[in-house]
Amino acid sequence: MPPVKQPVVSVLLDPDWASGSLVEDVRRGFASHPRALPPKWLYDDQGSELFDEITRLPEYYPFAREHAILTDHADEIVAASGATTLVELGSGTSEKTRILLDAFAATGTLECFAPVDVSESTLRTAAAQISQRYPGVQVEAVVGDFTLHLAHLPRHGRRMVAFLGGTIGNLYHEERAAFLGALADVLEPGDSLLLGTDLVKSADRLIAAYNDERGVTAEFVLNSLRVLNRELGADFDLDGFSYIPFWDAHMERMDLRLRSEMPQRVTIPGADVVLDLASGEEIRVEISTKFRVSKVAAELEAAGLGVTRVWTDDAGDFALTLATKA
Ligand code: SAH
Ligand code: AVI
Repeated sequence: MPPVKQPVVSVLLDPDWASGSLVEDVRRGFASHPRALPPKWLYDDQGSELFDEITRLPEYYPFAREHAILTDHADEIVAASGATTLVELGSGTSEKTRILLDAFAATGTLECFAPVDVSESTLRTAAAQISQRYPGVQVEAVVGDFTLHLAHLPRHGRRMVAFLGGTIGNLYHEERAAFLGALADVLEPGDSLLLGTDLVKSADRLIAAYNDERGVTAEFVLNSLRVLNRELGADFDLDGFSYIPFWDAHMERMDLRLRSEMPQRVTIPGADVVLDLASGEEIRVEISTKFRVSKVAAELEAAGLGVTRVWTDDAGDFALTLATKA
């Protein structure tokens, strides 16, 4: 067995959340209609743990479906990519990525694995575990924001960038276009993107996936207010809000909101904001866009990434698309 290469962790994010973009996001988001928060603030330590719990809920099918596609096709994906560096954006625990890493281990071609996430402790734990399990692979983890730090990602030869879980669906249409364009700009010809997208399906199944019986998703979404209380000294009373997930059939996306159950004034000293919420007023905490395979291909092609191959699970619930920079 080759000796374990110690993981290298680069921190590109400002470690003090309250000092930078959280304040700007709160000011801009709470002044918009509907009031909104960007979803990256959902993933403090508790939020990351709650998301991990969501992936094991019976109602939350995307994790299992993407897992099945990877299990069935990892060898083909690895061969088609020809990659020597695997970058993973929004990597979280990198649990499903281990299926790809196993397939790479069989070919012996992978030199570097570079997981990227805003959630530092989850990332450090995953990086340490992966270094132990794949001793020949250099793990170069990046604590960073995939909407800001794409130009600083490791490269050791040809890269495949994995963006799994359907996380691209948490971005708005214009944010997706900007993200894919920026990614295409930093890829070299022959590099590829492996993109996981959740597909449009019945409203009943979608709503069940985001409104689980145990209330874990509601806790996950409410945790965004806890983050504001802790980081910005806000005084949100979590009992004054209820969780409202709904399917927006026109935009083909889940819209996850918190509704103020009474008129209430919330002060957010760290952002110098006073928020007067009317009874029934809503804060959008996350969208989760669902795709059609043709729409994924169109968005990739518009960014200059040509679709090489698409895999779906047997039920047609989820898609993995491999797209290559020409
Ligand atoms: N890829 C994993 C985890 C998905 S959860 C899976 O498929 O199961 C989404 C992950 O993206 C979380 O770990 C979260 O911390 C991370 N994330 C969200 N917004 C981000 C951003 N702007 N930049 C980097 N990571 C982000
Ligand atoms: C990370 N992302 C793909 C999840 C989703 O399904 O949109 C986040 C999530 N929000 C509530 N449940 C899961």
